[in-house]
Amino acid sequence: MESQDRVREMLAAGKLPTVEDIYNPSSEIEDLIHVDLKQKKFVTNTSSVEIVKHFDYATKKIGLQDFVARFRNRYSYLKTIFYERADVDGMTSISKLVSGEEATIIAMIMDIKKLPTGTTKLVLEDLSGQVTAVITTKDPELADKLPQLTFDEVLAFSGSYNGGTFFVNDLFWPDIPFKNKPKAPEDVYVVFCGDVHAGSNMFLPKEFTKFTDWLKGESGTPAQREIAKKTKYVIVLGDVVDGIGIYPEQNKELRITDIYRQYDEAFKFLQQIPDDKQIIIIPGNHDAMRLAEPQPALYKTYAEKIYELPNAIITSNPSIVNLHKSDNFPGVDVMIYHGYSFDYFIDSVEYLRKAGGYDASDKLWEYLLKRRHLSPTYGANPVMPNPADPLLIRHVPDIVCSGHIHKAKIGQYRGVVTVSGSCWQDTTTFQTRVGHTPTPGAVPIVNLRTWETNMLHFK
Ligand SMILES: [Fe+2]
Ligand SMILES: [Fe+2]
Repeated sequence: MESQDRVREMLAAGKLPTVEDIYNPSSEIEDLIHVDLKQKKFVTNTSSVEIVKHFDYATKKIGLQDFVARFRNRYSYLKTIFYERADVDGMTSISKLVSGEEATIIAMIMDIKKLPTGTTKLVLEDLSGQVTAVITTKDPELADKLPQLTFDEVLAFSGSYNGGTFFVNDLFWPDIPFKNKPKAPEDVYVVFCGDVHAGSNMFLPKEFTKFTDWLKGESGTPAQREIAKKTKYVIVLGDVVDGIGIYPEQNKELRITDIYRQYDEAFKFLQQIPDDKQIIIIPGNHDAMRLAEPQPALYKTYAEKIYELPNAIITSNPSIVNLHKSDNFPGVDVMIYHGYSFDYFIDSVEYLRKAGGYDASDKLWEYLLKRRHLSPTYGANPVMPNPADPLLIRHVPDIVCSGHIHKAKIGQYRGVVTVSGSCWQDTTTFQTRVGHTPTPGAVPIVNLRTWETNMLHFK
């Protein structure tokens, strides 16, 4: 059904369509998404987990058309977001620009060049063509936005067209609307504890055991034990094991050099998490599978014992899950992403480096939410060229969370809680070399009733 027909139908039925209603990938695209899950809902007397998005693909030959379709779809979806915004008007396409007139175009950044004069020259593209755009630094507000730009992101540019060049007056990111978070009817907590790195000789078994002892109610003050009792969800943010051959000379830093035994080791520690807590596990770049995102759920061949845990829910990277839904509560939507793209953006975006780099994951999450994409620049990290672009943030969750950088931090952007988990691995030589300063044993915790957030420390 064409989007216009869909809108007409919804209006006739008295419903106000949202972007998600208007934009619906064609059936051809949906056919390529293969949700290979036997079970999507995991409900107990005290908890509920529903897998909202799990990305896995049927095997198919990949062609150039898949990459082209991915970019076209991303562009088309983000364009619909700009159409909803009141502050962006007068939109036209690049091929319809008229010399001497003002306009707003929605375009993808194909090239960025900073000229010695301070002017920034961009090559912009939409579905109708390309144009060279120029941004001068005369306006300080606009100049502040320039260090944030990255290749392939889609923005709205307002300005004037003259002599074949588009002179930009302002630019806007797709952004997210403000989120009013739902409040759970009782105190219930979710903790974030990824990057176990089982098998590494830097793995911290004592610290992980301190964490599981607390979850069991065997340590801490009476108040801390009460929180442990009310913790019903444990999110494991990937890098369950340290893997084999992930970085040069890694074998010198491995205690277990067999991948099966690494997963057995992870199982040994994960099984210490009490059964009344649901454990949601995604993979990371150290796990035994392809790097290209979305990564499927951990392979059963390797992680067989983890699959046997009665309270383990194993899903893809990224994933969206809904927690604690009940008859009178819609549940909390959590987007879980390992965070492998973070290295590229921290390294290449001046704005993020100046904001604190690896110490400012809250700023990085804000950056990605503003762009509605987990990895807006092609090539930042390996991706599967799936046309539907699973890294696009279509649905705005209540919580976004990530691991990978081993530096715990909790932030908030437009009502969305942003969480970066830490790790259970001490600093490796590789991390020191690339500028990581991890905070092992730190566990972010969120109360889904009050939305109070905190950091627990087990090291
Ligand atoms: Fe990690
Ligand atoms: Fe990682």
